[in-house]
Amino acid sequence: MNVVQRLTENAELLYPLLCHYTAEGDADFDVEREAERYSLLAKGKRIRPTLVLEFCRLFGGADAAALPFAVAVEMVHTYSLIHDDLPCMDNDDMRRGRPTCHKAFDEATALLAGDGLLTRAFGVLADNTAVTAEAVRDAVCVLSQAAGPMGMIGGQVMDLAGERKRLSLDALQKLHAHKTGALIAAAAELGCLAAGLKRNDPRTEAAVRYAKGIGLAFQIVDDVLDVTADAAVLGKNIGSDARCQKTTFLSYFNAEDALVYAEQVTAQAKAELEGIVGSAFLLHLADHLLNRKS
Ligand code: IPE
Ligand code: IPE
Ligand code: MG
Ligand code: MG
Ligand code: MG
Repeated sequence: MNVVQRLTENAELLYPLLCHYTAEGDADFDVEREAERYSLLAKGKRIRPTLVLEFCRLFGGADAAALPFAVAVEMVHTYSLIHDDLPCMDNDDMRRGRPTCHKAFDEATALLAGDGLLTRAFGVLADNTAVTAEAVRDAVCVLSQAAGPMGMIGGQVMDLAGERKRLSLDALQKLHAHKTGALIAAAAELGCLAAGLKRNDPRTEAAVRYAKGIGLAFQIVDDVLDVTADAAVLGKNIGSDARCQKTTFLSYFNAEDALVYAEQVTAQAKAELEGIVGSAFLLHLADHLLNRKS
């Protein structure tokens, strides 16, 4: 199974739709849309849209049903990166291999581009005519909960509170589960909804548990890469967490032990999909994310 190739194929499937949903312009305010597209169309790994597509496929749904949900989750993710990089948050200069949005444009435009993407995302969810109205309603609830104050925003609040102050390991796990795990879990759940499954279907619940696990591992690896990666490969500067004096997994473990822990979490996550016919790609994806260099 070639995970990289499949990720590339999924990203290529997504790209025209990312363009389509940000195509409408008005000369008087086009600078904000340009900033949205600058960040959204840049080279992201598209992990969250891949999860939407792959869980939809796993449970027998069509790509057409998954794609609007995949676009929406990538829009929310990209908005979160634009805001995360702002000087009032992590104050970073590089993202996805190019200057951050506020460096390429200006802070106000970057703020508005994030707002624009977040707002568009819910319109894109609602525009999914390939699923039932009930699935759209559930999708709105899932994405709103995951991205909002009880999800990613909450995690970002904890992340900022953990600057210059050491959070407990329990608090750090909660931080990671919210700032990163919540949106990754939402992506998996959106894929299940696109396939016609209900939120309380045991298969949906297993998908969410898998995604929470790989989401935690993903952020642990992100913490490690912030110290060990090659910035040119990573597409963002390293040393950001140390500069901001964040509490990360490296506040508690050395890089090697943090990766061993991420490996254990990944193994538990994979066990959630054991016995589900057709889950090979998702099992390989979990390992690929553990071993990633970018
Ligand atoms: C970066 O996410 C932010 C985290 C939650 C760690 P990704 O590593 O998925 O970033 P892109 O989408 O590939 O740029
Ligand atoms: C990102 O966490 C979480 C988001 C919600 C964007 P980080 O601040 O560690 O992400 P990077 O390292 O800047 O991509
Ligand atoms: Mg941050
Ligand atoms: Mg950051
Ligand atoms: Mg980071």
